[in-house]
Amino acid sequence: MIQLNNVSVQFGNVVALHPTSLAFHQGQFTVLLGASGAGKSTLLRCLNLMCKPHAGSIDVKGLGRLEGRKMLQMHRRQTGMIFQQHQLIGRHSALQNVLMGRLGYHSTLRSLFPLSQQEQTIGLQSLERVGLLHKTQSRIDQLSGGQQQRVGIARALAQRPLLILADEPVASLDPATADKVLVQLHRICKEDGISAVVSLHQVDLAKRYADRIVGLAHGRVVFDAAPDELTQIQEAELYEQKNPNIEQRAPPVLLNAQLIPT
Ligand SMILES: Nc1ncnc2c1ncn2[C@@H]1O[C@H](COP(=O)(O)OP(=O)(O)O)[C@@H](O)[C@H]1O
Ligand SMILES: [Mg+2]
Repeated sequence: MIQLNNVSVQFGNVVALHPTSLAFHQGQFTVLLGASGAGKSTLLRCLNLMCKPHAGSIDVKGLGRLEGRKMLQMHRRQTGMIFQQHQLIGRHSALQNVLMGRLGYHSTLRSLFPLSQQEQTIGLQSLERVGLLHKTQSRIDQLSGGQQQRVGIARALAQRPLLILADEPVASLDPATADKVLVQLHRICKEDGISAVVSLHQVDLAKRYADRIVGLAHGRVVFDAAPDELTQIQEAELYEQKNPNIEQRAPPVLLNAQLIPT
């Protein structure tokens, strides 16, 4: 449903992604697996042009080659994004945050007014899907980390997405909560036939949920197959090599692309 054709990304002298061609298929739950600095976030962000490729092109089923403002807007509308630090507004309620996912469907002017009953219903249904209907009016900063990330999933679902991009969605959670959140994300994507591209650094989680694992090291795809084909040697290769490009610093804070009026 979305295809990268020889996409590459460079930051100054650092090649974050070497020329890469990959197709992601409808309904598939794909995990991007690799160590810190491998290029997972870069690849993921290329899929909705939050990161501008330095070369190559991206084709989206039903839209064609991803170029131009209008087409990007349509693509982003049907693409839900889930972040590690969920990027929700702490002082707003769960429902208000989820309804942000609907803004891509309205003009800037229209989005200044209260959303319709129909929109509110979509928001409530999305919270119900993640088991948080009882937290509709709770402020985000009064929810647990796992609940906050489930609101992040609900916000993506409110977009009625065809594709969900999740960048390390459980990296800030303890292992039990991480598993619970991934179970839900996986179940919902399967129920709704949503394609998911999820970056993770934990091999065990990747193996448990992925239909397909794309392993990255130093900005290159080094593995692309079903989870049970990933050998221990390949696992070690994904993590043991030192990347001279890695700078140990926090990833840049990005606004949810969906929230930027276009
Ligand atoms: N905004 C940026 N500016 C400069 N270098 C960056 C930027 N984002 C990523 N990089 C570099 O690109 C490489 C890949 O990073 P990233 O895609 O964030 O990896 P991962 O998500 O697997 O940890 C790393 O070497 C990283 O330091
Ligand atoms: Mg990353």
